[in-house]
Amino acid sequence: MTDELTPETPESDEQPIKQRKNGLYPGVSDELAENMKSGWADTELRDLQPIEQAPQAARRRAALSARFPGERLVIPAGNLKTRSNDTEYSFRASTEYVYLTGDQTDDSVLVLEPAKDGAGAKDGAGEGHTATIYRLPRSNRENGEFWLNGMGELWVGRRHSLTESEALLGVPCKDVRELADALKEATGPVRVVRGHDAGIEAALTDKVTAERDEELRVYLSEARAVKDEFEIGELQKAVDSTVRGFEDVVKVLDKAEATSERYIEGTFFLRARVEGNDVGYGSICAAGPHATTLHWVRNDGQVRSGDLLLLDAGVETTTLYTADVTRTLPINGRYTDFQRKIYDAVYEAQEAGIAAVKPGAAFRDFHDASQRVLATKLVEWGLIEGPVERVLELGLQRRWTLHGTGHMLGLDVHDCAAARTEAYVNGTLEPGMVLTVEPGLYFQADDLTVPEEYRGIGVRIEDDILVTDDGNRNLSAALPRRADEVEAWMAGLLKK
Ligand code: GLY
Ligand code: MN
Ligand code: MN
Repeated sequence: MTDELTPETPESDEQPIKQRKNGLYPGVSDELAENMKSGWADTELRDLQPIEQAPQAARRRAALSARFPGERLVIPAGNLKTRSNDTEYSFRASTEYVYLTGDQTDDSVLVLEPAKDGAGAKDGAGEGHTATIYRLPRSNRENGEFWLNGMGELWVGRRHSLTESEALLGVPCKDVRELADALKEATGPVRVVRGHDAGIEAALTDKVTAERDEELRVYLSEARAVKDEFEIGELQKAVDSTVRGFEDVVKVLDKAEATSERYIEGTFFLRARVEGNDVGYGSICAAGPHATTLHWVRNDGQVRSGDLLLLDAGVETTTLYTADVTRTLPINGRYTDFQRKIYDAVYEAQEAGIAAVKPGAAFRDFHDASQRVLATKLVEWGLIEGPVERVLELGLQRRWTLHGTGHMLGLDVHDCAAARTEAYVNGTLEPGMVLTVEPGLYFQADDLTVPEEYRGIGVRIEDDILVTDDGNRNLSAALPRRADEVEAWMAGLLKK
């Protein structure tokens, strides 16, 4: 949508409308400009209650404060990104900002500033810092930004006022347009989470180093490893919506056969948008040999009866926690004997992997357990020469198992990705961690080292597993996994 009143070369937001209009806003008379300034109701929202996760966000800020005493910490939400010309991608706030505020507003920035008097803060930033969220305030109606600026509320919708935001988030809020200059003038050590807001980074360019900034990112990645009760609840919601999304897909497989994999993508997306914020990652809707491409997101292929559909998809909640679930389904509702042979091997590998998820276990244990099962099957089937120990030692099974068996899950689908190796891949499982267990076997269509009947078959089964005090809980257990249970579940949905 465009409007003839929209300026092609807007000047500073601060300029009053009369100065802007010479040639820039053809068609805006003085009378109209004056008219647009007034006649608007006071819509300030009063008595707002804090968002549900405000106390958790405050605890996280306090822990961050304790880790970096005396340093200014800058955590941007990020900005809109251009898709083409004057249209933007839908905005998704940075995980670090969401984790520390519960907020998702574009252009916002959380700043933790060392407390000047050393007396400590009362805003959930811990003893050593005061927290401020810098964000765009309500649009000014006097100077015309409300309707003449593309970021004006008339175009993008009402924003919360700074006062409303303070009530919702429990953090003092200021106008973000003051921040870059304030950061340029500020003295003392500072760190910023990079990659989200180029303007803020530019303001800090001679004050920060990549190494020190990375330490901040690493801390925030590792801090997210153990989920609190709110987060576990959100992940369960994400999984529950995802289960419904998989059911939706099974019900429309005939329409997908008549069109393409896109029908599956669109069907799952509908569920994600209606119940959550979005999909947590591009849905992998891989029919037939596309299942052997690990990140098949083009989703433009044929869906054929008799083939398998590998569907790897997750709903992201409105609070931005995502599920990550895969099922490999027979498109006509029944696995062939050969498909089932491969499916059952992956199922057995997943069972072994899930059984290895418990507190005190090494993170690598579930991967090793799954790989052992798959290597054993590949040797049994005569695809690799044994013994299994030799295969595992040399990693020969990996021609067909391809990827790691799982990863942390949370706000990011590959959560905690910046964590140090010793804290994650070489670390130990603790109650409250949530991870995927997702073994697979993939026989590429052009793999001449396996008999023809294997070629073009890909199977992955992926569930979201919470580490509990005494073992684990499968958050996605509501979605059938065993081959006969999958068939029975599909039969129930297909006949409706
Ligand atoms: N959906 C990406 C993954 O399973 O890791
Ligand atoms: Mn997945
Ligand atoms: Mn995954």
